[in-house]
Amino acid sequence: MTSRAGRFRLAVLPGDGVGPEVTEAALRVLEAALAGSGIELELTHHPIGGAAIDQGLEPLPAATLKAAREADAVFLGAVGGPRWDAGPARPEAGLLQLRRQLEAFANVRPVRVLEGLEELSPLRPERVRGADVLFVRELTGGAYFGRPQGQAGAAPGRRAVDTTEYSESEIARVLEVAFRLARERSRRVTSVDKANVLATSRLWREVAVEVARRHPECRLEHSLVDSFALRLLLRPTDFDVVVTENLFGDILTDEAAALPGTLGMLPSASGGGDGPWLFEPVHGSAPDIAGRGIANPLGAILAVSMLLRLSLDRPDLAGAVEEAVAGAVRDRCLTPDLGGTATTSDVARRVAGLLAVRA
Ligand code: NAD
Ligand code: IPM
Ligand code: MN
Repeated sequence: MTSRAGRFRLAVLPGDGVGPEVTEAALRVLEAALAGSGIELELTHHPIGGAAIDQGLEPLPAATLKAAREADAVFLGAVGGPRWDAGPARPEAGLLQLRRQLEAFANVRPVRVLEGLEELSPLRPERVRGADVLFVRELTGGAYFGRPQGQAGAAPGRRAVDTTEYSESEIARVLEVAFRLARERSRRVTSVDKANVLATSRLWREVAVEVARRHPECRLEHSLVDSFALRLLLRPTDFDVVVTENLFGDILTDEAAALPGTLGMLPSASGGGDGPWLFEPVHGSAPDIAGRGIANPLGAILAVSMLLRLSLDRPDLAGAVEEAVAGAVRDRCLTPDLGGTATTSDVARRVAGLLAVRA
């Protein structure tokens, strides 16, 4: 890692659909943020997902994994699309392997409703005003990786199985991340589970209570996932840090995108193990709008802000990016998902321009 000066190696994995479009926008903003910082950005681009499959490679080519491992951070656009849904190789498998190989077990997904955008939420503005929820999703366990997994038999007797398994240490380490983050915020942690039905959730709850004992300055609350899904939309401002297992976290963070009113605004950072952190927008390849230059780049741009904070230890530059995003929003430089007419590159240009004129 580099902090004040030196080289910073970023492995860029644009992927599929709108992935390359928002990645280009995010890199433009990263370059503007680093101008004059003394930090020299060394970018290398690598195929992943459908883009790799189309080149006759695996969804996560060995060379891409090697480059990711050797980098100071990894930036990913998005993978997947209907073109590859029939298989045999699935683009999504490349992303899952990458997360696992980088030991990126903690996926941090902040959800904020920016000032001035409350009216664009499908929820009533007074309900979402000030909403600021930090999701911590477990990312390398649960049903995504449990074995056995698969389908067997022939119609009409086909069967399929997925396995949800969690060890105590897998749960404890992600809870620990959640509590540490909560210490810097309002010190409230909501642990989401399905302990009234699932054995993994009962273990999750036991371990959550044990980890909470090490953080007496924080308050732990448990919430069952079905009721949490409702509470999140009814009273989003009740929550500070929310921690949950992989599949629940996947679903709930897309639901949380209803607060700002678009998936295009949400960034994420994944890490916690020995590997470099992985930064990506929460959204997917958005095949319905890909190729039109109208994808909202703010999720990817806010992921750049997370990178500046977490991998470059430059909260000042991270804050400057957030300020520039707020400025673009104030100027109503918005893509169609936010009711505007700006293109992806209009937004990137505006955010980068606001960064360039900062004091
Ligand atoms: P999606 O996130 O791609 O899109 C859901 C909806 O949100 C669509 O209406 C889309 O137009 C909109 N949207 C998404 N990103 C946007 C942006 N930046 N600006 C404006 N609107 C945006 O989800 P999906 O359609 O269910 O999935 C499409 C493909 O992406 C699938 O193959 C899926 O597996 C994959 N996917 C990948 C990732 C990832 O790479 N991290 C995440 C989710 C889905
Ligand atoms: C996400 C995505 C991925 C997930 C898919 C593409 C494998 O939905 O990053 O939220 O389910 O984790
Ligand atoms: Mn998802």
